[in-house]
Amino acid sequence: MKDNPYLPVRARIEKIIQETCSPELDVKTYCLKLADGGEMNFLPGQFLELSLPGVGECPFGFSSSPLGRERFQLTVKRTGKVTGMMHSLREGDHVWVRGPFGNSFPLEKMEGSNLLFIAGGLGLAPLRPFILYALDASNRSKYGAVDMLLAARTGGDHCFTYEYDEWRNKGNVTIRLTIDKQEPGWKGLVGFPHDLVRDLALDLDALYAILCGPPIMIKAAQRSLMEMGLPADRIYTTLEMRMTCGVGKCGKCNIGRRYVCVDGPVFRMSDLSEMPAEY
Ligand SMILES: Cc1cc2nc3c(=O)[nH]c(=O)nc-3n(C[C@H](O)[C@H](O)[C@H](O)COP(=O)(O)OP(=O)(O)OC[C@H]3O[C@@H](n4cnc5c(N)ncnc54)[C@H](O)[C@@H]3O)c2cc1C
Ligand code: FES
Repeated sequence: MKDNPYLPVRARIEKIIQETCSPELDVKTYCLKLADGGEMNFLPGQFLELSLPGVGECPFGFSSSPLGRERFQLTVKRTGKVTGMMHSLREGDHVWVRGPFGNSFPLEKMEGSNLLFIAGGLGLAPLRPFILYALDASNRSKYGAVDMLLAARTGGDHCFTYEYDEWRNKGNVTIRLTIDKQEPGWKGLVGFPHDLVRDLALDLDALYAILCGPPIMIKAAQRSLMEMGLPADRIYTTLEMRMTCGVGKCGKCNIGRRYVCVDGPVFRMSDLSEMPAEY
């Protein structure tokens, strides 16, 4: 990518994957390649700014493995102007991107520990780079058990379902899927992560928990984990605030004195608890 963080470069959409099949939640994953042949060197947790000329620019977390640098993926929920236009694009079309920006999950610090990923809906997208990194053959021995508690409103709202069997086959990996209310044919769990996490047999002395989802889910799951005895400095999350520049200049994304675009988007819960409750 270019040295000037404001200058976007062109990326080609090589493939589009429809993730969800529910009328209320339309999510697609875009497989992208930089048009100039360059690499996108990002770390799990980082994001980029994507623009469509004449429409606007938005931040999106990377959702693919950081180990495959020639191509990268973004997983986009249709919500408004830019994401709506993005959803009308086709394979072969181009978008403009600048980044990567922000900090990342502390991959080395968590080595030797078990990992618990708790995701709500599209919250799995920014966690997926870390999951794929930890499950890669070159890293699998660095981490212990990998547990995932993945929540969605309905069965059709779960993302990346086509990969779960491959993840389970990496050894010592457990994936639990839950939905909010029972529906015909659903064979997974029913209920919210903050309740279900209490039923898991977790070795809290050797655990890091990584949470992403709607703020209400993150706060409730954090409370449960802390009541179970997991200290706040072993719980991490990634935040989505309104952003413009992405590089700490415009002041749009601040929480107190911190800018989510440069001090985050990954935060340790013990640090977040010392910041104003604005997220
Ligand atoms: C660090 C970061 C990573 C993100 N990663 C992803 C991702 O991986 N996938 C994804 O689909 N979205 C992600 N988002 C949210 C995404 O940027 C917004 O959905 C997008 O900006 C909406 O733009 P729009 O023009 O389509 O919507 P608009 O027309 O601007 O607004 C439509 C609706 O979206 C809401 N909205 C707008 N911006 C945000 C925002 N930043 N956060 C939450 N709600 C917003 C508005 O309140 C409104 O209800 C991320 C945001 C941040 C800050
Ligand atoms: S988005 Fe401009 S300071 Fe964070």
